[in-house]
Amino acid sequence: MQHETLKEFPEDFLWGASTSAYQAEGAWNEDGKGLSVIDVGNHPEDVSDFKVASDHYHNYKEDVALMAEMGLKTYRFSIAWTRIIPDGDGEVNQKGIEFYDNLIDELLKYDIEPLVTMYHFDLPLALQKKGGWSNRETVEAFVNYAEILFDNYGDRVKYWLTINEQNVMIMHGDALGLLEDESDNIKAELYQQNHHMLLAQAKTFNLCHQKLPEAKIGPAPSIAAVYPASSKPEDVLAADNYSAIRNWLYLDAAVFGRYNEIAWTYMEKNNCTPEIEEGDMQILKDGNPDFIAFNYYNTLAVEADFAKEDKESNFSGDQKTVDNQPGFYRRHENEFLEQTEFGWEIDPVGFRTTMRRIYSRYQLPLIVTENGLGAYDELEADDTINDDYRIDFLRKHIKQAQLAISDGVELFGYCPWSAIDLVSTHQGINKRYGFIYVNRDEFDLKDLRRIKKKSFNWYKNLIKTNGKEL
Ligand code: BG6
Repeated sequence: MQHETLKEFPEDFLWGASTSAYQAEGAWNEDGKGLSVIDVGNHPEDVSDFKVASDHYHNYKEDVALMAEMGLKTYRFSIAWTRIIPDGDGEVNQKGIEFYDNLIDELLKYDIEPLVTMYHFDLPLALQKKGGWSNRETVEAFVNYAEILFDNYGDRVKYWLTINEQNVMIMHGDALGLLEDESDNIKAELYQQNHHMLLAQAKTFNLCHQKLPEAKIGPAPSIAAVYPASSKPEDVLAADNYSAIRNWLYLDAAVFGRYNEIAWTYMEKNNCTPEIEEGDMQILKDGNPDFIAFNYYNTLAVEADFAKEDKESNFSGDQKTVDNQPGFYRRHENEFLEQTEFGWEIDPVGFRTTMRRIYSRYQLPLIVTENGLGAYDELEADDTINDDYRIDFLRKHIKQAQLAISDGVELFGYCPWSAIDLVSTHQGINKRYGFIYVNRDEFDLKDLRRIKKKSFNWYKNLIKTNGKEL
């Protein structure tokens, strides 16, 4: 759809940026913090781990001052469950409470709205040892943890996110340390975990509304429009299939409190439907989000997968993200899109499509909690980082966000990944995303100095002009 004139970004639009605790904070074993599954996870040998990360724990004041200089209206960060409750369920660690108290106060000093993710991949190890999300008791542990957060920070935090990318955890649970090695039906275990996370989330929505009537809370999955490889009806059906199990399963449960039918049938066919106890569906129905937060990096194309056809798939992308399902769909490389240095397809128009699809399905306000470009930035001799490619990536996506708003989508914020450089999930610190460079290499910590990239000044001006000067 063309627009003669574009709608402007709303006056109070939340321009922001994001990080997560384990990828930015470091201080992995300081001040009483317990271990998480990430702290004991297997890291590829050629990239850094998360022990020091960007050392945000010790530098949060300087980092927040830089965010303020950039003009951020909001900062999306996560709280490490293991700082607050080292064993996941039990004693509260006062030092952990204090750290986020200080961080939140520092943000508010500069009028930056804290946008808090309660859990971003770093499940407490003590809970994992008791079965993690496969164990139904983790539901109550999460709700207790959420209550502690509401009690301590609810006077200052208005926007809450429950679980980061629950769908990615379920689709790639093996990569995130959420599975017991000996599990013989991995899918069944993951969908049981999913069910427990959905219960924890719904109860937390409810608790938030009871305790903090002024606050707003939502889920934070990764959502991507799924394209059919061609207009062949079977390919279109395959795209519909994939979207049901990748996107709508999670949001239908969060918003409508029910399981998506296509996804449920898929689980039945794969013998992996979760065990649902009496009262569970009511719990899902009773917990409602106020908005939908979502992370967007790229779209996905799929084709029909006919068991009898042995045509090779053309998909050569990051194999970690491949999730072909025989007879249901299989990934297809989209020849119309360019890719990043790391082989991720770049699709700004797909961003608009994704927003339109989410909004028309759920009619809830949207906020983007991640979107960005991972690249090998170069620190020049004069201490500059000329990341024009990042500016170009963000500019094109923000343009599409404005088009989506002009289409009628209610979008109230945009938080690129990431505010500062941090350690990527499995590809190290040199896959950089930040507006602020952190001077370290994979294994050489150097001085961890903060340096503003070119994109820092570009984003600053964009925020100052409320998106008018793109
Ligand atoms: C999202 C995660 O999946 O993508 C982030 O929420 C992550 O934690 C981001 O860092 C980028 O992915 P990666 O693998 O490049 O770090």
